[in-house]
Amino acid sequence: MDLITTQKQKAAIEAVKHIEDGFIVGLGSGSTAAFAIEALGNRIKTENLHIMGIPSSYQAFQIAINCAIPITTLEEHPQIDVTIDGADQLTCELFLIKGGGAALAREKIVAAASKLNVIIADQSKKVSRLGMNNQFVPLEVIPFALTPVKRKLAELGANPIIRETKGKLGPVITDNGNAVIDSYFGEIVNPAELSVVVKLIPGVVETGFFVGLTDIAYIGTDGGVEKICATKHL
Ligand code: A5P
Repeated sequence: MDLITTQKQKAAIEAVKHIEDGFIVGLGSGSTAAFAIEALGNRIKTENLHIMGIPSSYQAFQIAINCAIPITTLEEHPQIDVTIDGADQLTCELFLIKGGGAALAREKIVAAASKLNVIIADQSKKVSRLGMNNQFVPLEVIPFALTPVKRKLAELGANPIIRETKGKLGPVITDNGNAVIDSYFGEIVNPAELSVVVKLIPGVVETGFFVGLTDIAYIGTDGGVEKICATKHL
């Protein structure tokens, strides 16, 4: 197994320790969150826990079913105990970019409904400033609005690119029937401010900026797992 995969797994195992019997758990999307769903499935089986999961994407739903995790909905359980999810980039202030798997809107809805949000990542995701290393910010956009949204983003100084599918021609369509614009802003000095400006563009359903939502991050490293807590929890 390669080093990055091992780091992801270590972070996932640490995060799953937050889950207690009877919890409603938000199930994040992406390759790192998948390790947490699998680890949760193992805990349910070996410890006979009564847990229900709320998937943040069709991908998470499928993995949860394969791991025999009972599924519930936000209608039945509007308050989630713990959500575990991955990130494309994160800083030590716990500013995040998410949405590399196009699940950002549901991920944010699940995070906002959670008492505790735990983010897991390998070491490559930790940066001093969001947008470094040519990292784009994914935006979920109503297809009707794609061109006007791109124009507004260009006015803000971004390079916006409509995400195309792999294995099928045409744009990516999210679990909500929308398109995704990957926006290259360069290094982002004030993600909180920029996220508000972008969210206000008509047609933008959600942005990949996650600011003020995360409580704890576990970063897998070669030597162990680094824990970062939001200031409010210190
Ligand atoms: C899904 O839309 C994303 O927010 C993922 O959580 C993020 O892209 C991280 O994915 P990996 O764990 O696969 O890197």
